Amino acid sequence: MLNLFLKLVLLFLSCFATLCKTCNQVDKESLLSIKLSIYSPAINWTSWVDCCLWEGIECDANGRVTHLQLPGRDLSGSISPSIGNLTHLSHLNLSHNHLSGPLPHHSFLSSVLVEVLDLSNNSLTGEFPSSLLSKVIRLNLDFSNNDFTGPIPPGLGNCSRLQVFRAACNYISGSLPDDIYAATSLEELSLHVNSLSGPISNTIVNLTSLIILQLYSNNLTGFIPQDIGKHTNLTHLYLHVNNLSGSLPPSMKNCINLIKLNLRDNKLEGDLSAFNFSMFRHLRTIDLGSNNFTGSFPSTLYSCKSLTAVRLSRNNIEGEISPEIVALESLSYFSLAQNRLTNATASIKILTGCKNLSVLFLCKNFKGEMIPDDITFSYAFPNLQVLALSKSQFQGQVPSWISNLRKLQFLDLSLNQITGSIPGWLGTMTSLFYIDLSYNLLSGEFLKELGGLPMLVSELQAAKKIGGSRLELPLFIPPNINASNEEYYSLLSLRPSIFLQNNSLSGSIPIEIGQLQFLQLLNLSNNKFSGNIPDQISKLTNLERLDLSGNNLSGEIPASLSGLYFLSEFSVANNNLHGLIPSGGQFHTFSIPNFEGNPGLCGDIIEISCSIQTRTNNNPVPSPSESSKKELVYGLTAGVVFGFIIGSVGGIFYPIRVYSLFRTL
Ligand SMILES: *[C@@H]1O[C@H](CO)[C@@H](O)[C@H](O)[C@H]1NC(C)=O
Ligand SMILES: *[C@@H]1O[C@H](CO)[C@@H](O)[C@H](O)[C@H]1NC(C)=O
Ligand SMILES: *[C@@H]1O[C@H](CO)[C@@H](O)[C@H](O)[C@H]1NC(C)=O
Ligand SMILES: *[C@@H]1O[C@H](CO)[C@@H](O)[C@H](O)[C@H]1NC(C)=O
Ligand SMILES: *[C@@H]1O[C@H](CO)[C@@H](O)[C@H](O)[C@H]1NC(C)=O
Ligand SMILES: *[C@@H]1O[C@H](CO)[C@@H](O)[C@H](O)[C@H]1NC(C)=O
Ligand SMILES: *[C@@H]1O[C@H](CO)[C@@H](O)[C@H](O)[C@H]1NC(C)=O
Ligand SMILES: *[C@@H]1O[C@H](CO)[C@@H](O)[C@H](O)[C@H]1NC(C)=O
Ligand SMILES: *[C@@H]1O[C@H](CO)[C@@H](O)[C@H](O)[C@H]1NC(C)=O
Ligand SMILES: *[C@@H]1O[C@H](CO)[C@@H](O)[C@H](O)[C@H]1NC(C)=O
Ligand SMILES: *[C@@H]1O[C@H](CO)[C@@H](O)[C@H](O)[C@H]1NC(C)=O
Ligand SMILES: *[C@@H]1O[C@H](CO)[C@@H](O)[C@H](O)[C@H]1NC(C)=O
Repeated sequence: MLNLFLKLVLLFLSCFATLCKTCNQVDKESLLSIKLSIYSPAINWTSWVDCCLWEGIECDANGRVTHLQLPGRDLSGSISPSIGNLTHLSHLNLSHNHLSGPLPHHSFLSSVLVEVLDLSNNSLTGEFPSSLLSKVIRLNLDFSNNDFTGPIPPGLGNCSRLQVFRAACNYISGSLPDDIYAATSLEELSLHVNSLSGPISNTIVNLTSLIILQLYSNNLTGFIPQDIGKHTNLTHLYLHVNNLSGSLPPSMKNCINLIKLNLRDNKLEGDLSAFNFSMFRHLRTIDLGSNNFTGSFPSTLYSCKSLTAVRLSRNNIEGEISPEIVALESLSYFSLAQNRLTNATASIKILTGCKNLSVLFLCKNFKGEMIPDDITFSYAFPNLQVLALSKSQFQGQVPSWISNLRKLQFLDLSLNQITGSIPGWLGTMTSLFYIDLSYNLLSGEFLKELGGLPMLVSELQAAKKIGGSRLELPLFIPPNINASNEEYYSLLSLRPSIFLQNNSLSGSIPIEIGQLQFLQLLNLSNNKFSGNIPDQISKLTNLERLDLSGNNLSGEIPASLSGLYFLSEFSVANNNLHGLIPSGGQFHTFSIPNFEGNPGLCGDIIEISCSIQTRTNNNPVPSPSESSKKELVYGLTAGVVFGFIIGSVGGIFYPIRVYSLFRTL
């Protein structure tokens, strides 16, 4: 009590010490009624304290409230219409809260001069009130990451001093309103991830101050504005994932300050080598992937010395890579997958000159050539982390120069015609955790050496993945042969995998496989593996997908597999297995097709009852609660923290996993 009294005295004194700005009574009542519609234990606005001293509030000399700033304070509830009574408010920042409901249409900021209005990262709904955009000075408007719908109302054109307008990640539809092009002070226009349609008018050149233009992930059509080159200050141009057509406007070469250019996933076309990129001295990343560009690799791009990431995949670019590419000394990401390049060996030889290369994606080119294999490559690519040479019908064997790529984490040689056996050195590669050799002509055994793959065996090694930084451009990797590609911005989020399906591998599955404790996806289907399914597979406690179908495996399905709590896809179809299908754990979620083609199998899942004899021969299945405890303890002792929830509904278990495995090590 005394403490409080002292506080009050201090407040009182400090009020006199400075210019005492006693709170305007209307503003104070407005604030109190705003507080009523907001739920937050954290706001300590108390009516007997001068409201100009309240947290988040600032007043002018007359005691009128000018600032209301409570970003990231866990506020929920809605924004009261009383906010319209704060007639002197110029700074409103309620971003990063949980506010919901629509903005109060009629009164909201109806008579104010707003400089900063930031309502981003809430759950606000409804349409933008048009009155909101029609008033005078607005320097910075941010409505991003809410649930606003409807079109952008007219009025922006009157905001002649508006510098930043963000409304990304909402459900805004309609076309870009014409008068947006009259807000000539705009430096940033960010409306990405909405449902905008229609063209980008060439009038956008009126926005001469534009530095950042982000309109990606909408449904925009038409051409890239022909005079875009007038935007000499533009540094970020993000128009990807739209429906833009036509070619690159020649004037674009004058956007000499561009740092990032992303036009991927449109319907752009034209001879790319005819465009002159040489003025882009500051360009760091360029992504023109998934369009219909033709011609050879543009040689003027070799003049863009700042380039670190180049992605031109999924176009119709033909010819060879030129030795001039070594001029791009910072190049670390290079993807030309799915084009019409020729001469793989010469291409790789040239690229060995790019010492900083860490991602190399050249899939689906070089139809039917020999897989590049040259002893001189052994000393190249000291920084290579990702190598993808799939879908090219490459002939030859797994090239041995790959064994020297000390930093290689991801190797994809799938969908080629590679022969020979799996080389033993693969199992010693210190950084490798994703191997795809599927759909080739490989023969021989699944080497026990692979069971020693350091990244999948040792915690210390696996922890190295933490070092993975954000990639300059995403990797597009199919999670399954037929599924659409998933987008990865970090190698951290790629799941540790071994894909060997659709080869001619034979012999038994070695027990050493049980050492790969960090493995998440394993596909050995459609080979000629024989022998038993090793019990040791049950040690792969992180396994989410296990496909052993289409082999000659015999014996019983080890009951211990029911302890694999993250297993969500499983198949042993078309083998020679017999006996009781384990129950418990995830096995409740598997169905008949996962087991068909094994005449000897029986069990509830496939609705074939077993003889008493088979039943007693089987190992007892651990009860779910027991094994979940075991799993948890195992996980914790391994230093792994899972978001681990097991709910039991009618005996069916639903494990939910939070991908924190390698991050928390
Ligand atoms: C209100 O809370 C804020 C932050 O917790 C604190 O800084 C401020 O001193 C408090 N104000 C009053 C009047 O108690
Ligand atoms: C504040 O605004 C509300 C809603 O617009 C209005 O009903 C009320 O009379 C206003 N209060 C004061 C004190 O002006
Ligand atoms: C609003 O506050 C947040 C958190 O302090 C800050 O990051 C953001 O820049 C502010 N918004 C504006 C427009 O100033
Ligand atoms: C804002 O919201 C977006 C989308 O929900 C989220 O990705 C982002 O991390 C949030 N930003 C902050 C600073 O919380
Ligand atoms: C823009 O300002 C003019 C003049 O003040 C006004 O007449 C017009 O209605 C405003 N436009 C919009 C859409 O608010
Ligand atoms: C764009 O600028 C031109 C020339 O300055 C002007 O005539 C036109 O009205 C402007 N367009 C818009 C939408 O403001
Ligand atoms: C580009 O930016 C500079 C510095 O901010 C400014 O002086 C110049 O007017 C801008 N150029 C255009 C075309 O707006
Ligand atoms: C592009 O336009 C076509 C037809 O005009 C439409 O079918 C398709 O959905 C559009 N694509 C996107 C990404 O909006
Ligand atoms: C994009 O626009 C086209 C043509 O108006 C329409 O057919 C299509 O459904 C739209 N696509 C999306 C994703 O909104
Ligand atoms: C590209 O532009 C630069 C600078 O304007 C010029 O020197 C060069 O000759 C041009 N190259 C081509 C191939 O047109
Ligand atoms: C790509 O361009 C080629 C030749 O210019 C044309 O034949 C083909 O239809 C185009 N493909 C698409 C998907 O637009
Ligand atoms: C590939 O390029 C090299 C070097 O330019 C050349 O010697 C070789 O003949 C080329 N191979 C093919 C298949 O074109």
